[in-house]
Amino acid sequence: MSNVKLAIIFYSTYGTNHAIAEHAAESARSKGAEVRLLRVAETAPEHVVKGQEAWAQQLEKMSDIKVATPEDMDWANAYLFVAPTRFGSMPSQLRAFIDTLGGMWFQGKLAGKPVSAMTSAQNLHGGQEATLLGLYTTLMHWGSVIVAPGFTDAAIAEAGGNPYGFSTQPGALDDKGRAAIAHQTHRLVEIAAKLADVSEAEVKEAA
Ligand SMILES: Cc1cc2nc3c(=O)[nH]c(=O)nc-3n(C[C@H](O)[C@H](O)[C@H](O)COP(=O)(O)O)c2cc1C
Repeated sequence: MSNVKLAIIFYSTYGTNHAIAEHAAESARSKGAEVRLLRVAETAPEHVVKGQEAWAQQLEKMSDIKVATPEDMDWANAYLFVAPTRFGSMPSQLRAFIDTLGGMWFQGKLAGKPVSAMTSAQNLHGGQEATLLGLYTTLMHWGSVIVAPGFTDAAIAEAGGNPYGFSTQPGALDDKGRAAIAHQTHRLVEIAAKLADVSEAEVKEAA
């Protein structure tokens, strides 16, 4: 699957979504995809971040990870978004990055690419599905190929049964969670590889 260039774009305040994104990156690489693990910039004021030790520590832990740019979105032929639930929706930090992509959207550079998403929320019914569906609404505006996991593997039901995308409650990932993340990521990479094959064949035919 060397024709797959996957940008995994994540935000995490306390570490859960960072761990999900890292496991997804490992899973995609094991399928041969070229992966860029990218975080979105922290936009909360410094005094707010520093006001919570756990938040400040997590930001420091991610300091070596490159911040996503529109160039990364252009480079990739598949995207995976990973971010926590904030009042039933995606965090403003991720929204702020997405809102820098209007120019690319206008030029059609985001269209036709396979995309999937994962999330976490404190409560079991605290908005996981709403967060994923809200993100997918934006992807429909882009003309993305949304690659939801559905119930395409037993791992999905075993990890809580969210067909819209992997979701969990904060804390360490267990084996069932890791299996569901791996399945969703493998499925995204496999579909991205098929789409890339079709585009390469079209280029050859046109030449
Ligand atoms: C401002 C704010 C809003 C939140 N809103 C929700 C919510 O609507 N539902 C919920 O279950 N948890 C909510 N949470 C909890 C987060 O979803 C939880 O901290 C997150 O999933 C942890 O992910 P992280 O470790 O990657 O930051 C909220 C947390 C914050 C700070």
